[in-house]
Amino acid sequence: MENLPENIKPGRESILEPPLQMSDEDFRSLRDFINRYCGIYFDVQAKFLLERRLTQQLRHHRIRNFRDYYFFLKYDPRREEELNTLAEILTTNETYFFREDYQLKALTEEILPEIAETKKPEILLPSEKCLRIWSAGCSSGEEAYTLAILTHDHPLLKKWTVEIFASDISNQVLTLARKGVYRESAFRVTQDVYRRRYFEPAEDGFRVRNEIRRLVTFGHLNLLDEERIKMLKPQDIIMCRNVIIYFDRESRRRVIKSFFERLRPGGFLLLGHSESLMNLSTDFILRHFKNDMVYQKPGPGAPPGGAK
Ligand SMILES: C[S@@+](CC[C@H](N)C(=O)[O-])C[C@H]1O[C@@H](n2cnc3c(N)ncnc32)[C@H](O)[C@@H]1O
Repeated sequence: MENLPENIKPGRESILEPPLQMSDEDFRSLRDFINRYCGIYFDVQAKFLLERRLTQQLRHHRIRNFRDYYFFLKYDPRREEELNTLAEILTTNETYFFREDYQLKALTEEILPEIAETKKPEILLPSEKCLRIWSAGCSSGEEAYTLAILTHDHPLLKKWTVEIFASDISNQVLTLARKGVYRESAFRVTQDVYRRRYFEPAEDGFRVRNEIRRLVTFGHLNLLDEERIKMLKPQDIIMCRNVIIYFDRESRRRVIKSFFERLRPGGFLLLGHSESLMNLSTDFILRHFKNDMVYQKPGPGAPPGGAK
């Protein structure tokens, strides 16, 4: 599995106390359990990292060995809470505003105009058109607010209702996202004009202005939870970047299948620059736009039967 050592954020484990020993059998049990829970897959090279990172949880709960911790995760009444903590400990949350600008250019210059031209009003909203975007694996919210800024500014969407749903498995990052206050590093590629227009100085950084915040709803959602995903409204665009690279192939397949089902016919799937649907799904059409390649569910506005 690529990227595995980066799965684990540095600096969480104690440097004062040595990690507890994890047997190969316990490693496999815990690895498979974590994989079934959230899709993240640790290969054998990451064993020592998992050992070090989980040691703090064993110490915290006064559990003596990894076997008992595995049973704790499976059967203890506090397991839900512990799984939330695991999501915090084991995920990487790196993100920033306006990440992968060529894809955002494809979005504003090619995809949104196409949607504006082809999307029909919905039965429930006959008098206005509605655009729904889902930022799946949104981390601390920079991606979702970027989408909100770009749609808010878009000349073709002036009369549209825009709904952006942003989700993550980690409650910690969702709390930051809802707060909407960011430090300098989040703006590493943000043009000044956006910062001036859509952020206001706050005590500990810059706060997203209300006109942008109100476009985004944040929610806790595990991307492997197909039943809850089915409850989302049909989406025009799903953006899921730098999330499934940490998953094994079977979990990626499951997530992509859920995305396919949640997109409205003709909707778009935007993955990270190093991610593709190769060996995962043949259901989508690969669209070669000027600025980027993106996936589209067959339907209104999509080229018939293949790439355009
Ligand atoms: C590297 S961040 C990507 C943030 C943003 N999409 C970007 O590209 O800048 C990956 C995020 O995926 C989330 N994540 C990992 N596994 C998940 C799962 N099973 N369900 C939902 N979110 C998950 C992590 O908590 C983390 O915040």
